[in-house]
Amino acid sequence: MARLQADHAQPAIEDPVLLVKEFALSKKIQAIRGMNDLLPDVSPRWQFFESRVRDLMQRYTFDEIRMPIVEQTALFARSIGEVTDIVEKEMYTFEDRNGDSLTLRPEGTASCVRAALEHGLLYNQTQRLWYQGPMFRHERPQKGRYRQFHQVGVEAYGFEGPDIDAEVILLSARLWQELGLTEHVTLELNSLGSSEARAAYRDTLVSYFEAHRELLDEDSLRRLASNPLRILDSKNPAMAEMLNGAPQLIDHLDEESRAHFEGLTAMLDAAGITYVLNPRLVRGLDYYCRTVFEWTTTALGSQGTVCAGGRYDGLVEQLGGKPTPAVGFAMGIERLILLLETLDLVPKEALGGCDVYLLPMDESTTIPALTLAETLRSAVPGLHLQLHCGGGSFKSRMKKADKSGATLALLLGPDELANDTITLKFLRQERDQQSLPQAALSATLAELLNLATATQPT
Ligand code: HAM
Repeated sequence: MARLQADHAQPAIEDPVLLVKEFALSKKIQAIRGMNDLLPDVSPRWQFFESRVRDLMQRYTFDEIRMPIVEQTALFARSIGEVTDIVEKEMYTFEDRNGDSLTLRPEGTASCVRAALEHGLLYNQTQRLWYQGPMFRHERPQKGRYRQFHQVGVEAYGFEGPDIDAEVILLSARLWQELGLTEHVTLELNSLGSSEARAAYRDTLVSYFEAHRELLDEDSLRRLASNPLRILDSKNPAMAEMLNGAPQLIDHLDEESRAHFEGLTAMLDAAGITYVLNPRLVRGLDYYCRTVFEWTTTALGSQGTVCAGGRYDGLVEQLGGKPTPAVGFAMGIERLILLLETLDLVPKEALGGCDVYLLPMDESTTIPALTLAETLRSAVPGLHLQLHCGGGSFKSRMKKADKSGATLALLLGPDELANDTITLKFLRQERDQQSLPQAALSATLAELLNLATATQPT
């Protein structure tokens, strides 16, 4: 497991005061590799995406849950699996001051089950939950793969049949549709069967791999004993032919899992969702059974999975609860935003910005401009108004108005103040400036910017 530390080789100084001195002398402190700042030019896109997601969750009646970012290490080891890449190599694990082993969450499903159990949310009731937030994995950073990344996740508990599998898939499909992504993503689907069917299949698979041992690479040889199904996931071209000939899990499904899977595909067909059956889709976390799926794209290079999930009927019991069927997925927000940017699908209004720049022309109008700004904000709630702050010459004030990106500037000088008027300048249009009575200003702005005015109390 990766220890909690920056990648740069840093002096092994335990005393924090010395550490601070050392840093001050040697270099600027930088963000941890693979952990990104989200700068103001990008955050409107995130807000756009997040607001679309929140709205969708409400329409599908999923309730939001927020879990802590740090959990006991044992939670992840027990749920994701001891011999998975995440638990073996990627967790940010550290000892806290009490000597407890804690881990920055690498995913949300385990925490969600823990929280639902801890608060009795699964007792005699079903749940449809969603969450979003940062996750942490010590992977090799590259485009679309980070050490701190963000997921939106959905988890449904207490539903046995395939209708809920279809429902969560339809929810994700609707998001793609609303974002304009439908043609750019593919749904891959598989069933892993019951844990008994998988155990039997595992034996068949191990025999097959043993017979082709000379073709297995080092990683696969290691997995042969611990997690042979994951060998099917290998991208090593030298193994491709051998893997194509491997026995397929779909041919070894138990009857119930087969019926479940057929039920799901019938529902997806009825809803007009196209999918590709991928018998080699096994997922990298151990808790799955029956349905597994991934939404992939070819537009992002090698990190093409934008959303992934499946059923995990055994996990609640494994974490100390009563047997409870469960299904869910998580999508990678960074990857989806990259995809929207690559395909130029971020709507203009999601780029944020400022409509109106209100500019006191000199010091004498600073306070009246401040109160006028507040009046306008109350009168036109959708208005994005920036008040000039920080003084300066008239020229520099006008420069700042232009730089703000606003389409309109409002100029308030001593003359305007004396006459209760305002000067309206069109910053992006060849149009004469206008002098308006202040009383007419909110209505004029609302009309020019196509915004509603606040409803007056009766
Ligand atoms: P996962 O496949 O590990 O599943 O991650 C889900 C998604 O998170 C991936 O498809 C990808 O879009 C994004 N993701 C994963 N790792 C990174 C990374 N290093 N950088 C950027 N994005 C990443 C889970 O986490 C399961 N908890 C999903 C689930 C929920 N299954 C059932 N319920």
